Amino acid sequence: MKSHEKNIDLQSKYSVTAFFYDLLDYPWERQYRQWRPALVGDLRGRVLEAGVGTGRNLEFYHQDVELLGIELSEHMLRKAERRKAKARCDVTLVQEDATVMSSIPSHQFDWVFSTFMCCVMPDDIQALALEQFSRVLKPGGRFRLLELVYSKNDKIRKKQQAFAPFVEKVYGARFDRHTLQHLERSAHLKVTHTSFLKDDTYLLIEGVRDS
Ligand SMILES: C[S@@+](CC[C@H](N)C(=O)[O-])C[C@H]1O[C@@H](n2cnc3c(N)ncnc32)[C@H](O)[C@@H]1O
Repeated sequence: MKSHEKNIDLQSKYSVTAFFYDLLDYPWERQYRQWRPALVGDLRGRVLEAGVGTGRNLEFYHQDVELLGIELSEHMLRKAERRKAKARCDVTLVQEDATVMSSIPSHQFDWVFSTFMCCVMPDDIQALALEQFSRVLKPGGRFRLLELVYSKNDKIRKKQQAFAPFVEKVYGARFDRHTLQHLERSAHLKVTHTSFLKDDTYLLIEGVRDS
């Protein structure tokens, strides 16, 4: 399947998932909500949020941010539009594919930020998105990505494996994507720090575009 077709597949998945996304995600969102303020709170300047979803991060951006949120699914984007009113900063939301970003000129952003988008993207598509992150970041611009990954702890991993078919069916997400490895192959994006927000399952990847 070509990358374009894979994205059409994801889009049609999210045209259904969007209607019950917030309800379905609620048990996890209770945890994510504790993390989101710190994840975006120190971002300043022009920020691109990729895979903005239903707009869960919008209310936590600092007022000195000028935010462009992009999202593949028009149905998810409609939900995010409703959350825009809660934001303290300027927010523009557009339907745009993170692997293409045809409407976005190069070297525009101080930050690229994303929560749980790369783990939704098939591996070969991820590399395309990372190329676009590199293109749209200013030299010296920074990125921060939060991803789901498999735990090395047997007990936790077994639980994740039990959930995996559901997570893939509903969100298109997998625990075994290779975001970090793709980043290591990137010509211009350099990972500067990785950490886990919980156990060894919620991986935060931070880095910089070289200047
Ligand atoms: C699991 S949701 C996470 C949503 C949100 N970031 C959050 O933290 O709640 C993943 C989102 O990424 C979007 N997405 C997937 N592939 C994308 C792409 N190529 N371009 C833009 N958005 C994409 C999906 O449509 C979906 O809304």
